[in-house]
Amino acid sequence: MERKLSFDIFRYNPQDPASHPRTEKFYLEETLNMTLFIALTRIREEQDPSLQFDFCCRAGICGSCAMIINGRPGLACKTQTRTLPAEICLLPLPIFKLIGDLSVDTGTWFRAMNEKVESWIHTEKIFDPLSREEKMDNALAEDIYELERCIECGCCVAACAVANLREDFLSAAAMNRIARFMMDPRDGRTEKAYFDIIGTDAGIFGCMGLLGCEDVCPKNLPLQDQLGILRRKMGWSAVKQLF
Ligand code: SF4
Ligand code: FES
Repeated sequence: MERKLSFDIFRYNPQDPASHPRTEKFYLEETLNMTLFIALTRIREEQDPSLQFDFCCRAGICGSCAMIINGRPGLACKTQTRTLPAEICLLPLPIFKLIGDLSVDTGTWFRAMNEKVESWIHTEKIFDPLSREEKMDNALAEDIYELERCIECGCCVAACAVANLREDFLSAAAMNRIARFMMDPRDGRTEKAYFDIIGTDAGIFGCMGLLGCEDVCPKNLPLQDQLGILRRKMGWSAVKQLF
């Protein structure tokens, strides 16, 4: 049976001094296979053209539509309204800079994170465009690919209690990135170089192990495993540096 959906949507334009943070109610008749992307687009087209939210791929690939959906970070384009109660509350992701309403700037945060963890292959080898790249073992390539699937949506960051408490916390997305490079034989960084980036309270030792990150990751990345592996490796690294 068709339901009447009510949406409580966060509204605030930080650029407008007259604007103040609040939620506004909107109502829609639910349609077959309606996603939050469809619902928000209809609200903007039919009820309020000033409503701000981000979408690009509409297929769970670009990561731009993450928001807090009834208290839980998730991708709006991949969330069907039939999986939610008739009363839906939508808030912007915390931690990231608010652009307006449901739109946040995850790009600046992820760029800074990628620079902090030096998210590129460190090698002394000179690239010769005429030579063939060394073939990587298929199983290893698949393991690396598994961690490469992060779409930088920010859900794990928003769900992390530590990231919500301390601004400098690297978060699961960054640990996952480092874990990916540690597996890559082309990356020539030493264990100490990795330790200097994540062997701190702002890195792996700040993680309280609550694992909200893995619960909400829309790509089902094995964040819990990677955090456990990194904690053990960095723990040993810390011990070795004492002697
Ligand atoms: Fe999003 Fe998962 Fe990547 Fe975190 S690890 S940014 S939740 S895709
Ligand atoms: Fe690209 Fe949702 S619009 S992930």
